[in-house]
Amino acid sequence: MTAVSVGRAAPELPTPPGRAAAWPSASPSVWPASAVSAPGGDVTVGGVSLTGLAERYGTPTYVLDEGEVRARARAWQRALPDAEIVYAGKAFLCRAVVDWVEEEGLGLDVCSAGELELAATRGIPPDRIVMHGNAKSPEDLRTALRLGVGRIVIDSDCEIARLAAQVPGPDAQQVMVRVLPGIEAGGHEKIRTGAEGQKFGLSIAEGDAEHAIARILGQPRLELVGLHCHLGSQIATPEPYAQAVRRLVSFLARIRDRYGITLGELDLGGGFAVAYLPGDPAPTPAAYGRRIDDELRYACHGSGFPVPRLTVEPGRSIMAPAGVALYRVLSVKRSAGRVFVAVDGGMSDNPRPALYGARYTVRMVGRASAAPMRATTVVGRHCEAGDVLAKSVELPEDVRPGDVLAVPASGAYQVSMASGYNTTGRPPVVAVTEGRSRLLVRRERLEDLLRRDVGV
Ligand code: LLP
Repeated sequence: MTAVSVGRAAPELPTPPGRAAAWPSASPSVWPASAVSAPGGDVTVGGVSLTGLAERYGTPTYVLDEGEVRARARAWQRALPDAEIVYAGKAFLCRAVVDWVEEEGLGLDVCSAGELELAATRGIPPDRIVMHGNAKSPEDLRTALRLGVGRIVIDSDCEIARLAAQVPGPDAQQVMVRVLPGIEAGGHEKIRTGAEGQKFGLSIAEGDAEHAIARILGQPRLELVGLHCHLGSQIATPEPYAQAVRRLVSFLARIRDRYGITLGELDLGGGFAVAYLPGDPAPTPAAYGRRIDDELRYACHGSGFPVPRLTVEPGRSIMAPAGVALYRVLSVKRSAGRVFVAVDGGMSDNPRPALYGARYTVRMVGRASAAPMRATTVVGRHCEAGDVLAKSVELPEDVRPGDVLAVPASGAYQVSMASGYNTTGRPPVVAVTEGRSRLLVRRERLEDLLRRDVGV
């Protein structure tokens, strides 16, 4: 059997010190590194046939390459060996993923009591968990304190006294303050969180961050350990992080001068871009890490401030490239000169195209076709014209009902944002590694949905 690589990541480019990698030419693949073409038009991932997975688990199904997740976790650790790497669980979380994160030595970022309780069913030490949220519920805070999460990130004035009053003592709860550095970055306006005028963080420029810090310092049950910021998501160059480092280090120095405290932690959040389409800019962890580390040392030297311990919170960068969504074609239709290929999933398992105009590539698997390729629109099965999964993708002209389509770069913010729209049930998640598959999350069935419907 001749196996042809469909997507090994391009090698990292050497980078001069203090400069970002020449990322556009790095052209990272959109497939997991283990993906190879197999006979009969098939593709294997983690040594397992995608066609076979579609047969065995049905469609739609999400496939997660465990080796890719672990390799990406390690790449982050190598990129920033002195930093804490905290996986952002909102990208996708289930119990097996908590185990992988724990085994790879990463921390975990959670933003609800639910994510935290799920993590607590496994062996990850609570002191490696960071809790976020612009509006934490009483339940979120109670759970965080009961389970002993390491750090809670304060995101509003209102939660300072509320949290302090609940800390059982005698030890103080470690907290960070999420500051708003006033930086515009991110792949879409809905996922830009570093600029003024949106719901996250406390503005440095308007004095809100300093005001919150003063209040926290007045609470003996809270121990302020550092600053946090999260600029946004799908940020395709290291520069905004360097800018954030400069602003935050200068703010740390100001806090030291005014309040006499030297905060020892700096958390830059996540947001590191991945490639959804071949050629999309997606710097490597090493490229982001180098730029951040260089700037941190430079800025601290300039302010005479000791280099704080750095934390980053990659979610998408670890999980998206490890996932492949599998669908089966239900119908093929021509309308107004366009070809619509409709599949058995759609915006209920992947709302990203409808929400952010996200673009994907699609490949037919499991049938070799000699037909010419033509531009096709892949749509979902849901009752909206906006339920489009991928526009203008190249598929063979003879694509027909029953064919299996694979969508790479599907590991983050798809299953975790899946909805119950049209009562189709959320898809299963299957892990592949070393030639074997394992069901992680089973398909949501009608009986699951009926169990919640108690009003009869
Ligand atoms: N840290 C914090 C505080 C965050 O809010 C997030 C993401 C992350 C880390 C991880 O960001 P990442 O490395 O995954 O970009 N649903 C959107 C993305 C929303 C991101 C929300 N916060 C999407 O599908 O593009």
